[in-house]
Amino acid sequence: MNTRTVSLHILFLFLLLHLIDSLRTLDQNNTMKDGDVLISQARKFALGFFSPGNSSLRYVGIWYYEQLERTVVWVANRENPVNHTSGVLAFDHYGNLVIRDNIGNLPIWSTNISSLTSNNSATAQLLDSGNLVLIHDLSKEIIWQSFDYPTDTFLPSMKLGSDRRTGLNWFLTSWKSEDDPAPGSYSCRFEPTGYPQWFLYKGRAPYWRGGPIIENPHGVDRAMPHDFNFTVTVVRNATEVSTSYSTSTISRYVVQESGSCRLSMDP
Ligand SMILES: *[C@@H]1O[C@H](CO)[C@@H](O)[C@H](O)[C@H]1NC(C)=O
Ligand SMILES: *[C@@H]1O[C@H](CO)[C@@H](O)[C@H](O)[C@H]1NC(C)=O
Ligand SMILES: *[C@@H]1O[C@H](CO)[C@@H](O)[C@H](O)[C@H]1NC(C)=O
Ligand SMILES: *[C@@H]1O[C@H](CO)[C@@H](O)[C@H](O)[C@H]1NC(C)=O
Ligand SMILES: *[C@@H]1O[C@H](CO)[C@@H](O)[C@H](O)[C@H]1NC(C)=O
Ligand SMILES: *[C@@H]1O[C@H](CO)[C@@H](O)[C@H](O)[C@H]1NC(C)=O
Ligand SMILES: *[C@@H]1O[C@H](CO)[C@@H](O)[C@H](O)[C@H]1NC(C)=O
Repeated sequence: MNTRTVSLHILFLFLLLHLIDSLRTLDQNNTMKDGDVLISQARKFALGFFSPGNSSLRYVGIWYYEQLERTVVWVANRENPVNHTSGVLAFDHYGNLVIRDNIGNLPIWSTNISSLTSNNSATAQLLDSGNLVLIHDLSKEIIWQSFDYPTDTFLPSMKLGSDRRTGLNWFLTSWKSEDDPAPGSYSCRFEPTGYPQWFLYKGRAPYWRGGPIIENPHGVDRAMPHDFNFTVTVVRNATEVSTSYSTSTISRYVVQESGSCRLSMDP
């Protein structure tokens, strides 16, 4: 390689680094374009536009930042893709985060926070747990979080179940196919009738009932490494019925298009 090629390579690298903007937070004053990514503080997760499988449609999703093969753990506009790469993610005047199709400037998806009045401002941040949170600039409270709207993946520290006050129902639904993240036929729910256990539904019909989640975290018990530290928490009180878990490895439960709810771990 001569000096000229080297400097061209450096120039190319420089251009590449500048083409992809990585943001730490998103607020009223900036906009995330297709191609930009919002990264969590310890670079565990990234949020950006992507196309699943062989699709050319664009979705806003969250994936593990440092894994070469993209594993999407959450999708915002599951049912309303952007048809081209001119989509943007930005705040509107009410403090809602919206995805717009920049050509028609139509809102395609919104956080739809109903309690917001005008002149609100919020900041969006992606946490290292994979949770996208909107923090109100004045009250500093979390006014919306992606963990309240699960797609097909159950991450450590997320909750499945329901919040009796807000009426939020936390459950997983499979993708339609590898190319289409719209809700598919299967859902995986946590319903603590008697003792806490998993229920897999096909449409509205119960399809499979898992064992009690505490004793049997999904059949993986036999394959678990010795140092696999798996803790399940169950909350059952006046406001909330939920389950969550934590592990010592990168792990996720995914309800598959084929109708199974599986725990996968990365070494
Ligand atoms: C956005 O820009 C305006 C005007 O420059 C400034 O007053 C405001 O503090 C900025 N907001 C944030 C969240 O940085
Ligand atoms: C994408 O297309 C290729 C070639 O047609 C095919 O082999 C592959 O299975 C497809 N992948 C998905 C996820 O549909
Ligand atoms: C995207 O394309 C689909 C199918 O071609 C069409 O139904 C839909 O209206 C388009 N959406 C936008 C925002 O242009
Ligand atoms: C937001 O609210 C509108 C009107 O109620 C509804 O049509 C739309 O589906 C909602 N969007 C999301 C992402 O929930
Ligand atoms: C919103 O902010 C604008 C400009 O700062 C101000 O003129 C207006 O009165 C505010 N509206 C409300 C409802 O607070
Ligand atoms: C397992 O996790 C719990 C809670 O996170 C922690 O207190 C404990 O020290 C961990 N044990 C091991 C062996 O890592
Ligand atoms: C129920 O448990 C949740 C989670 O620990 C807690 O935030 C909430 O305050 C509890 N509600 C009551 C009524 O104790």
